[in-house]
Amino acid sequence: MIIFNSVKSLENHLTDLQKQQKTIGFAPTMGALHMGHISLISIAKAQCDIVVSSIFVNPTQFNDLADLDKYPRTMDADIALLEKADCDILFAPEVNEIYSEEELNAKRNHKEDFSWTQGKTVDFGLLDKVMEGAHRPGHFNGVAQVVSKLFRIVNPNKAFFGQKDFQQLSIIKSMVKQLEMPIEIIACPIVREEDGLAMSSRNRRLSDEERKEVPSISKLLFFIKEIYKTHPINQLKEVVTNYYEKESLIHLEYFDIVDSETLQSITDFNNSKSAVACIAVKLKTVRLIDNVILY
Ligand code: PAF
Repeated sequence: MIIFNSVKSLENHLTDLQKQQKTIGFAPTMGALHMGHISLISIAKAQCDIVVSSIFVNPTQFNDLADLDKYPRTMDADIALLEKADCDILFAPEVNEIYSEEELNAKRNHKEDFSWTQGKTVDFGLLDKVMEGAHRPGHFNGVAQVVSKLFRIVNPNKAFFGQKDFQQLSIIKSMVKQLEMPIEIIACPIVREEDGLAMSSRNRRLSDEERKEVPSISKLLFFIKEIYKTHPINQLKEVVTNYYEKESLIHLEYFDIVDSETLQSITDFNNSKSAVACIAVKLKTVRLIDNVILY
């Protein structure tokens, strides 16, 4: 695996590969890699000639600076995992390779920067107003900002994202369409621990006691998937809210059943072609999300 820290050297290398008509697959990450990330690399390897991954803890998508500081950084272990997965190229830039001082200042002053749209109008409509967007102001602008920058640098044919971040996937698909980027976005299945917990870089920050409780998240989602055809949506929601009312370690931030395209809450399954149940919970210092596609 070749590791690049600078935009220029990566761009030069990729231009050569593109001249040789190689197809490029890209799996951006924030590091602290687990088998969920490695599955993105494997899927990309099966579909593209060259696989590029990036490790960049993106400051602009954190609305909570403490969360940014606490975000696990495990570069040596990450490199070993990527090597083992046969990843071809790793891009691991410093913050100043990606952001100008103005962009960072905008973030410091809690202002959203839209220069990443390069003059195009990008409007996510209601997609970024619900669920994660409602609970983490500015988060999706930061995600779109960094992903658009990385896409412009890597110029991939296909980019691979995990379905655990279902809303992020919708935002990125919408961004690529609005910025007219010729990149195919591939949604990859959630990878779970044996007890059902969705793999996440944040799981390693759970205490032993918390780790024992968190499989309830996916268990509830799977239960909802089992019973949704025979229960009205408000009753399904009650199953989850009632469960967490009795839980002291896990605080439910939201549980919603939404249309997979619009991400808006639904009240009747008959009005949606595809629906997904989404959940976010907060433990003492860790926030986790998960989802299950109902149909
Ligand atoms: O899903 C992530 O790890 C991040 O949000 C991403 C897409 C790498 C952007 O920083």
